[in-house]
Amino acid sequence: RLETENKKDLVGKKVLVSAGSTVEPLDPVRYLSNNSTGKMGFAIAKIAQQRGAEVTLVAGPNQLALPNRVNYQPIKTARQMEQKMLEFYQQADFVIMAAAVADFRPAKTAEQKIKKQELDQLTLRLVRNPDILAELGRKKQKQLLVGFAAETQELLHNATQKMQQKKVDLLVANDVSRHDIGFGTSQNEVVFLQPDVAPELLSKRSKEKIADKIFDLLMDLNRQRRK
Ligand code: CTP
Ligand code: CA
Repeated sequence: RLETENKKDLVGKKVLVSAGSTVEPLDPVRYLSNNSTGKMGFAIAKIAQQRGAEVTLVAGPNQLALPNRVNYQPIKTARQMEQKMLEFYQQADFVIMAAAVADFRPAKTAEQKIKKQELDQLTLRLVRNPDILAELGRKKQKQLLVGFAAETQELLHNATQKMQQKKVDLLVANDVSRHDIGFGTSQNEVVFLQPDVAPELLSKRSKEKIADKIFDLLMDLNRQRRK
């Protein structure tokens, strides 16, 4: 059990979190997606709710049990996620993009099932999805914004660039080339990056503990801001 079960320091705070993958349809029965199961984002929603926050969870299709007392907003595509994030963004205090948003979607979705007959090969044309986090960064007012970075190489370099380009206050970087952590597992090892602060490695631990640490850092930032 985490000590946070009694810590109610997020009472009065509104937390908006995205989780899981997005699903981009090719035809009525096929889609493009990725390996995200939603565990990290769900852990964030659960810990925020336990610490007393009012939580909205925008999530792609998943197999997870819903955390108690959260405003659950299921979506499928990146563009649906974008709409939901924008809908709840203005009122939010802390916004965390933990979702693995598909970077591209099929340029068109066939209305009927694609038939293989007479096709020896099939080329899919993909177009870019909106970068939701970058858009939230551009529209940021009082919110504290948290992004994730999934990297397979040059973790610090790539993650630092994402932090700066997307104007996030806290970036959680993880190495997705490792199989013992991250996608689908219940643990992760991450590096926290903040503008003008030295990177901080958080050794391997449960996603709940990582979520807890994210809110500790956000509450620190919140206090610094009021000074
Ligand atoms: N993200 C987003 N919208 C997208 C793609 C990513 O909001 N269309 C967010 C993710 O939720 C995450 C952060 O941006 O918080 C970084 O995602 P990541 O996939 O690591 O980086 P990208 O900017 O998409 O770059 P690339 O995949 O090319 O490394
Ligand atoms: Ca991406």
